[in-house]
Amino acid sequence: MNVSTKANPQAAAARLKKVSPLRPTLAIVLGSGFHHVLTELRVTKKISYAQIPGFPKPTVSGHAGELFFGHLGKTPVLVLSGRAHFYEGHEMERVTFATRTLAAFGITDLLLTNAAGGLNKKFKAGDFMVLTDHINLMGTNPLRGPAIAGLPRFVDLTEAYDKKLQELLFQAGKISKLKLQQGVYLAVSGPSYETPAEIRAFATLGADAVGMSTVPEAIAARQLGLRVAAVSCITNLAAGISKANLSHAEVLETAERVKKSGAALIKNFAGLYGKQV
Ligand code: HPA
Repeated sequence: MNVSTKANPQAAAARLKKVSPLRPTLAIVLGSGFHHVLTELRVTKKISYAQIPGFPKPTVSGHAGELFFGHLGKTPVLVLSGRAHFYEGHEMERVTFATRTLAAFGITDLLLTNAAGGLNKKFKAGDFMVLTDHINLMGTNPLRGPAIAGLPRFVDLTEAYDKKLQELLFQAGKISKLKLQQGVYLAVSGPSYETPAEIRAFATLGADAVGMSTVPEAIAARQLGLRVAAVSCITNLAAGISKANLSHAEVLETAERVKKSGAALIKNFAGLYGKQV
């Protein structure tokens, strides 16, 4: 299906605006390890992705496919539970559709969360890593395609991840009594995990963590002028670094083990963000 003829982000944003009069400027996309924050969210309204024109239905188990309007502490937020991944077979236009919708809605700041494998020797499973930068090895770019009127064709990614928002994440980490790691997230298309040889190669490239999401959304968000922050839950050590074979079960197990920390981090981030704006 060609998204551009079936739906556009403006139409999706118009649908969202009818759901609730709440107009948050912060949106949070939940990846594995972060869904528990929903227990902290005072929900005003929610809408299933199936009811938002153009939103794909996520297929990964445990990813609900719902968008929430609500408050974390005093801060109004939109929370997206579930995202479209490139490895599911979606075109990049689809993968980034929610990001474009958020911008059309009026979101100015985007917090992306994900599960990732750790390459950095100092990382342990269950750590959280603030993204300082990324390496896109997904094999394509989400901005490939016809130029979009009014948006830059060649997008600067020198500071893809906003310094101020990174600082808020570190402050939120302190409040949550978490020692946050930081580093470079390398994105692959997946869905197979990497080989040990690939992980050795990625380490020489400067990657600290590897995952299968976030980068398309971050790039699209930068084209749209949104400020972006991102944080990974290091659910496992990457292939060959860990002695054990990798499994989705391990990813989910770690995510479950540290879910309260992930929730606290996001809640405190939202609280600090609310004091800024
Ligand atoms: N590799 C890629 N994606 C991931 C991993 C990994 O080791 N863990 C969680 N998501």
